[in-house]
This record gives sequence, C-alpha cells and structure tokens, in this order.
Amino acid sequence: MRRSYAGSYRDKIAVLEKLLDGFEGKRVLEIGCGGGEVVRALEDTGAIASCADVENRHASASHVNCSATEISQMFEGESFDCVLALALFGSPLAQWCMENGTNLRETEMTILGQARAVLKPGGLFIVYNADSWLPHLTELKTRDFEATGFSLEAATGNDTLILRAEKP
Ligand SMILES: C[S@@+](CC[C@H](N)C(=O)[O-])C[C@H]1O[C@@H](n2cnc3c(N)ncnc32)[C@H](O)[C@@H]1O
Repeated sequence: MRRSYAGSYRDKIAVLEKLLDGFEGKRVLEIGCGGGEVVRALEDTGAIASCADVENRHASASHVNCSATEISQMFEGESFDCVLALALFGSPLAQWCMENGTNLRETEMTILGQARAVLKPGGLFIVYNADSWLPHLTELKTRDFEATGFSLEAATGNDTLILRAEKP
C-alpha cells in the first residue's frame, strides 16, 4: 500500500520517475537522505533503494551513516542505476564543509567522483535543488564533469541537473 507524503516529496518523486522512465527494479542511492522520506517513497515505487547521510536520522537496513565523500568505500562500485543528491549541494554541503574545514569546490568534485564510482556504466547522477544553487553548479563547468567521467545530459530549469556517467 502506498503511504502518503508531504506534497513536496510526491512532486520530487514524480519528477524523478519521469526522468528515469520508472523506478521499478532500479538500484538507486540517495546521498544526503535526511530523514529518509524520499527513500521510502522510492521503495514504494518499486526501486531498490539505498541511502547515506552524515546524520543518522533514517534508521533502516539500507542506510549507511557516512559522508557523500566516502560512498565508494561503503557501497559496491558500479552497482547503481541512479545516484540522487536532493537538496544536498548548496547550503547543507557548504555548512558541512565549514564544520569539517574542507574546501567546498573540492568537496563537490570529490562527490562527483564518488557518485561516478558507484554508478553502472551509463548510469545517471541526478542533482535536484529547490534553491538557486544550481547556476553555480552548472558553472562547475562541463569540463569539470568530464574530468570526473560525466557528461552533462540536461539542466532543466533552475533546479535539476542530470549527469550521465561515461565509462571508458
Ligand atoms: C536539506 S537535507 C535534504 C534531505 C533529503 N535529501 C530531501 O531532499 O528531503 C540535506 C541533508 O544533507 C546531509 N549532508 C550534508 N552534508 C553531507 C555530506 N557531506 N555527506 C552526506 N550528507 C550530507 C545533511 O545531514 C542533511 O540530512
């Protein structure tokens, strides 16, 4: 039975479902999952969902308590069809960098590399932000994406960035 969600989560899932052409049987990893609302919604749509966050607000077997900068140590390489970062880039990551004394831009690049490492060839990394951070991320420049083995597939409006993992 489907659970009911706050409108914003339902909206996010609907957008993502369209982008991925359905979640049924797809292996999806959400990094920066917060309380796990999106992960639970993904599971209801048939996805095989895993998640990670530096905080431990979502207790479940599929949750790993770690930073997005270390997911390749925690999850099997080339094992996901999709990695999601929903409202992680922007102020949450900037705050984490400040608290941990790391450089924001370098951290963003590290996360791109980590996402690529756990994606299957041709898998999708979807960055979805509800704030105005995306123009900055888009400016993280095509050549940066390429340096981490991604091609920029689409930037839809101001809130969604879709990167496809290219493998040699
Ligand atoms: C605004 S919440 C978004 C939660 C969820 N993705 C959503 O869309 O509802 C941002 C989350 O990013 C997490 N976060 C911040 N820096 C992180 C990092 N370096 N690695 C993993 N998670 C991080 C925070 O702990 C927080 O749970």
